[in-house]
Amino acid sequence: MKKEILLTGDRPTGKLHIGHYIGSLKNRVQLQDQYNSFIMIADQQALTDNARNPEKIRNSLTEVALDYLSVGINPSKVNIFVQSQIPELNELTMHYLNIVTVSRLKRNPTVKNEIKEKNFNESLPAGFLIYPVSQAADITAFKATVVPVGEDQVPMIEQTKEIVRSFNSIYQKEVLVEPTALLPKKGLGRLPGIDGKAKMSKSLDNAIYLSDSPDVVQKKIMSMYTDPNHIRVEDPGNVENNTVFTYLDAFCSDKETLEEMKAHYRRGGLGDVKVKRYLNDILQAELDPIRNKRNDYEKNLDYVFEVLKRGSLNARSVAGETLQEVREAIGINYFI
Ligand code: TRP
Repeated sequence: MKKEILLTGDRPTGKLHIGHYIGSLKNRVQLQDQYNSFIMIADQQALTDNARNPEKIRNSLTEVALDYLSVGINPSKVNIFVQSQIPELNELTMHYLNIVTVSRLKRNPTVKNEIKEKNFNESLPAGFLIYPVSQAADITAFKATVVPVGEDQVPMIEQTKEIVRSFNSIYQKEVLVEPTALLPKKGLGRLPGIDGKAKMSKSLDNAIYLSDSPDVVQKKIMSMYTDPNHIRVEDPGNVENNTVFTYLDAFCSDKETLEEMKAHYRRGGLGDVKVKRYLNDILQAELDPIRNKRNDYEKNLDYVFEVLKRGSLNARSVAGETLQEVREAIGINYFI
């Protein structure tokens, strides 16, 4: 039986953290046997608001590639590729732009939010406004049916579906394929920062990175936000909105011990430091093999770039076939 096609990716704007790991990377490793998988480093999308910082994107590209390989994304099973190296995606984007309205783009909730967050005002780059169309090109070029993404990306998939439907209907041919979003399991979508804030991010300096050393991880865990009213060990504590327990929910597989700990914490008598030490043991055990692999790959960047090059060549050939069909459907395949 032919495997379904999966495509997903990340904008390289920094190193990946344990929120990415829990919310998507771990899942991708599991899915790589089930699907014909493409994972894209969306450097061109990252450039839409970083035209003046290409160095940052370039450096992050290497970091993200290292993160992918270290968590166990296997390049013999998955095409890991670099978006900017697939010019076919840009031509697809141009064709799709003609069937999307500016007002629809301005209404895309994800983009609308980001525009507000980034305070673009009058300096909004046109490329940023249209990145959902380029994302539709990423997805449709591979005829992906499954797109594992976070909740915030759902409007992107919706917009892609609309583009697929209009394209096929305008040109009266079932060329493009509608994707479906595959969302993270309940509770794993978004790990809070170590300060308890809703989101891990570089700007808030509240993330634990896959590449952090054991010392740094330990220090971050020891400084984690817990229950501010749990002052003395004997005080009863709250495990809800308590970051250490949120992380334990995500990382601890011994649910029985965890439930006992929660009960103990709730009734009082269990100190934060003990719980943090427990989390530290579990997290270090999970991160150790990843860190070790990362160290090895870091010494062998030629290999890492070879993987990206091979993946990008494969991706180009698949995207090229779709582009040919798209040109034929529009009727601009003049010279063949
Ligand atoms: N927009 C995604 C992000 O913010 C990255 C991305 C680009 C993507 N193209 C994609 C994700 C296609 C899934 C499918 O990280």
